[in-house]
Amino acid sequence: TLNNSTNVFWQECQVGKVDRQKLLNQKGCVVWITGLSGSGKSTLACALSRELHCRGKLSYVLDGDNLRHGLNKDLGFKAEDRAENIRRVGEVAKLFADAGLICIASLISPYRKERDACRAMLSDANFIEARLHMVFMNTPLELCESRDAKGLYKLARAGKIKGFTGIDDPYEPPEKCEIEIEQENGVCPMPAAMAGQVVSYLEVKG
Ligand code: PPS
Repeated sequence: TLNNSTNVFWQECQVGKVDRQKLLNQKGCVVWITGLSGSGKSTLACALSRELHCRGKLSYVLDGDNLRHGLNKDLGFKAEDRAENIRRVGEVAKLFADAGLICIASLISPYRKERDACRAMLSDANFIEARLHMVFMNTPLELCESRDAKGLYKLARAGKIKGFTGIDDPYEPPEKCEIEIEQENGVCPMPAAMAGQVVSYLEVKG
């Protein structure tokens, strides 16, 4: 098939996704973790990756902050850059899932439209088994701000960072997500407990 570029075709190889799945004894998929800065996304991503590793499952974490050192180093935080960031991570996650890995994408991904686009991209007919499983770190802004591990909220409140998510840039909570991690009495669940919740869900989904 031709895409929007001219004279560009899709190439198929003999070794396909099903072959890779057999080799790895697992199904590729994407666990997409969304939430405010400081909501615990990276903590969950790392705990989940560790838990899967212990169970002999191959995973890989795509962390928003980390990717901005390389693949996405040309992107800032204005709306169109964030949209492109989410789109690119979605495309990379799709490749990882197609390679057979459990891809854990951890980025603020504040906009519903782009998250929905990633979900749609991962649900197309050619990609039937590698679905996107959305995890919403539903940590209230006040709690994220009180932690302020990187000191960024303080800078944003002082006007030294413009367009900070939750302060002067929007975060649109998901209308639909597979897993929601909430605070119990203002306390974040332990990393292993959060990871266990996601692993149990993935097990049910096969
Ligand atoms: S996004 O919105 O999905 O494109 O963001 P992401 O790629 O996940 O990058 C978020 C990390 O960048 C740091 N940072 C900011 N976050 C939000 N708003 C602004 N303006 C900003 N500037 C820098 C911050 O460390 C985020 O990391 P996390 O892990 O979310 O705290």
